Amino acid sequence: KERKLIIAGNWKMNKTVAEAVDLVKGLKLELSGVKEVDLVVCPPFTALCEVSKLLLDSNIRLGAQNMNENPAGAYTGEIAAFMLKEFSVRYVILGHSERRTYFGETDEWVARKARAAHAAALKPIICVGETLEEREQGRTRAVLERQVRGSLAGLTRDQMLETIIAYEPVWAIGTGRNATPEQAQEAHAFIRSLLAGMYDETVARRVRIQYGGSVKPSNARDLMCLPDVDGALVGGASLEVRSFADIVKNSI
Ligand code: G3H
Repeated sequence: KERKLIIAGNWKMNKTVAEAVDLVKGLKLELSGVKEVDLVVCPPFTALCEVSKLLLDSNIRLGAQNMNENPAGAYTGEIAAFMLKEFSVRYVILGHSERRTYFGETDEWVARKARAAHAAALKPIICVGETLEEREQGRTRAVLERQVRGSLAGLTRDQMLETIIAYEPVWAIGTGRNATPEQAQEAHAFIRSLLAGMYDETVARRVRIQYGGSVKPSNARDLMCLPDVDGALVGGASLEVRSFADIVKNSI
């Protein structure tokens, strides 16, 4: 493949610290030899400290699920980039559809977070994706274009090269109904063409675009082999050692 695959587990609001430690120990046993794919786990904030210790000698990298765009200060309940850096976090998921839907995150807000992430040398994983209604109304491309342009606003070319995009059709998240390979390839190619227009062909060729939405061991191969799909953002199936490890192994 032209780009190295990056497979990330988004644990969402799941796992005690003890459960997180068990899961990561299991993943290390299963995946320590994997060099072909970049591997990332994104535990809840409360487990970052313990998980980071386990990953010191590992090929698995650490990600967070969100962050606040301000450097520090009076933002009750929020987490800043420097706090993530303390635990050697390398990646941060931004603008997940659950945050857009339940917490009111807008493209403009996501872009501010993305710029703050880069300022702290964190690599953002920026999520975009249409709802079922938008797809059925034939608005998929328009929605993706608005989200991509809006959520990446203000990123320099160098920052864009260190940014990952996750295409997550909202109707495929947690539903068991993944996008077909044709649907995924079409959306990914479209997003890549947007990057070519916003930046240039080299950026478009280098930026990795993950697919997310009901990725499981049984569909991973067919999705990961698509020319413009460069990895996966896995929710439910990242919560168990067996299913996450099998997704990775089936993708190689
Ligand atoms: O970030 C992950 C996605 O929301 C996908 O979740 O694999 O449970 O469908 P899922």
